[in-house]
Amino acid sequence: MIPQTFIQELLHRVDIVDVVERHVRLKRAGSNYVACCPFHAEKTPSFTVSQTKQFYHCFGCGAHGTAVGFLMEYSGLGFVEAVKDLAQSVGMTVPEVRSERSHERAAEGENLYTILLTAARFYRTCLKDAPRAIDYLKRRGLSGDIAKRFGIGYAPDGWQNLAGAFPDYDAKALASAGLVKQNEEGRRYDVFRDRVMFPIVDVRGNVIGFGGRVLEASDGAKYLNSPETPVFEKGRELYGLYQARRAIRDAGRVIVVEGYMDVVALAQNAIEYAVATLGTATTAQHVQKLLRQSDEVIFCFDGDSAGRRAAWKALETSLPELVDGKQVRFLFLPQGEDPDSYVRSRGKDVFERLLNTATPLSRYLMDELTGQVDLSSAEGRAALIHAAKPHLAQLQNNTFRLQLVRDVAEKARLTPEEVEAACGLTPAARKRAASPARAQRRGGPELWRNLLRIFLEAPELVHRVSEEQKRELQGDPEFAPVVALISAIEKTDVHSTAALLEATRNSEYAELYTQVRTDLLSGGNEADKLEADLKGAFLQLESRALDAAYRDLLSRPSLSESERQERDRLWQRLTELKGAGGVGQPSPM
Ligand code: GTP
Ligand code: MN
Repeated sequence: MIPQTFIQELLHRVDIVDVVERHVRLKRAGSNYVACCPFHAEKTPSFTVSQTKQFYHCFGCGAHGTAVGFLMEYSGLGFVEAVKDLAQSVGMTVPEVRSERSHERAAEGENLYTILLTAARFYRTCLKDAPRAIDYLKRRGLSGDIAKRFGIGYAPDGWQNLAGAFPDYDAKALASAGLVKQNEEGRRYDVFRDRVMFPIVDVRGNVIGFGGRVLEASDGAKYLNSPETPVFEKGRELYGLYQARRAIRDAGRVIVVEGYMDVVALAQNAIEYAVATLGTATTAQHVQKLLRQSDEVIFCFDGDSAGRRAAWKALETSLPELVDGKQVRFLFLPQGEDPDSYVRSRGKDVFERLLNTATPLSRYLMDELTGQVDLSSAEGRAALIHAAKPHLAQLQNNTFRLQLVRDVAEKARLTPEEVEAACGLTPAARKRAASPARAQRRGGPELWRNLLRIFLEAPELVHRVSEEQKRELQGDPEFAPVVALISAIEKTDVHSTAALLEATRNSEYAELYTQVRTDLLSGGNEADKLEADLKGAFLQLESRALDAAYRDLLSRPSLSESERQERDRLWQRLTELKGAGGVGQPSPM
């Protein structure tokens, strides 16, 4: 855990304009900076960075966040990594509260990076003196440039070549890095021997492991991959992502293939936006990482049954990650082909044309679901619902789910509402329609939103909220996001909006806070204006309660003397409130 105080201090010291500028060229526009959005393809700039608010927002694709968020999105870093990167850029050290053991592990990690980099350099040097390996790569159609781009090397035949690359061949870290092993007699030997070496690189450019391929078919494994180590987790990493990042952004899409050679051969044929999973099934982390970098992910699998199984697994993994505006598609190559062989024999244009015909996830899912049942019978249509249910349940409640629900409904001869009910889904449309009506009835233009706006803009104003007012807010579920925000501010004692957004990153309302904050990008709000707004908001809150009580009394057929007095008192107070500042009139009966 990184302490919130540190993150606050950090966000105070970095300037988001500098951070963004390192990757995207910004132009001044009034009090903000603008650029063409790095997160989606566009011709006119709608990506806006506010220096005063230390916040960015794209009015085209909706990407938004703080300096930390920008680094996460742009570089595909995790939260902790992004914080570390930023800290480093302003000369701060992240004060991680951690045990001695994890201290050791972090030091070991640093050491492993160095060792793996040294090994990668060694293998690259060896390739120059290995005509057999060079020949092999040439036969597979690779140029020297592409070999360089991917840092491809060669591990020579022989048992202890790495002894020539490291001062201490017996160092424990060489084994931890997965480069050497020990036999029963305790003698050490190189893991990779006589293999073409593909370094695996993380998004920051560190070498974290290797894939090694034999030059000729043999009895042993075709590929030997590094084991998982403290710096290498297969479920998180994608081969080629580091090299592909720029092309992914330019193309607006990313292809996921199965093999190292597929990535390299595609790049050789000018398709540079491909990555590969590392001999593992697609994980949610993979999908998240990819959807952060691009709006469209295309899984490209072999047309055989193993490829079909892998694709279905990728579909299941993708379902919970699908937010509106992102899409996942599937491309099945003809039997016996992989992307490497296909692009080599037919070239870039044919491959890209094929890519454009990739099946959208929705169609793939519908085809699979309906393919298993007989839609002409009631039994078959019921079976469709049964089969669709677990998949629909994985989806977020968004427009995409609604579209799929409609597709299923049509096939099942039900209404979308009936499908939602049968699948135990919270109805999409009704939920959305209900809230404005509710706000209207309560007589406020979304008071809770106004309060969020005020506290997000000026967190220190929470000190003006009395205990009684807090209780009032707590009593109404509509204000839950406000209550949570107030308590976050009190707990972390933040003093800037950016810090507050980071402090609430994991809150269930994080998205809502960011949205409200984004609405504010254009308007400047002076402190005293906000203070007045806050007073107004609480007057409105009070009047809402009084108004309800007043109406209640009015609606009774007869009133006692004390009730009549109370009614008049309420009327009096409501009139005062109205005079005090923009609060609605007592409702007419
Ligand atoms: P070639 O074109 O034959 O060089 O291989 P490829 O890159 O097309 O790989 P393939 O489609 O055969 O396999 C896909 C991925 O699975 C490879 O990139 C490896 O990550 C992994 N893999 C393949 N064969 C082996 C193996 O024998 N052992 C291990 N551990 N992994 C393998
Ligand atoms: Mn292949």
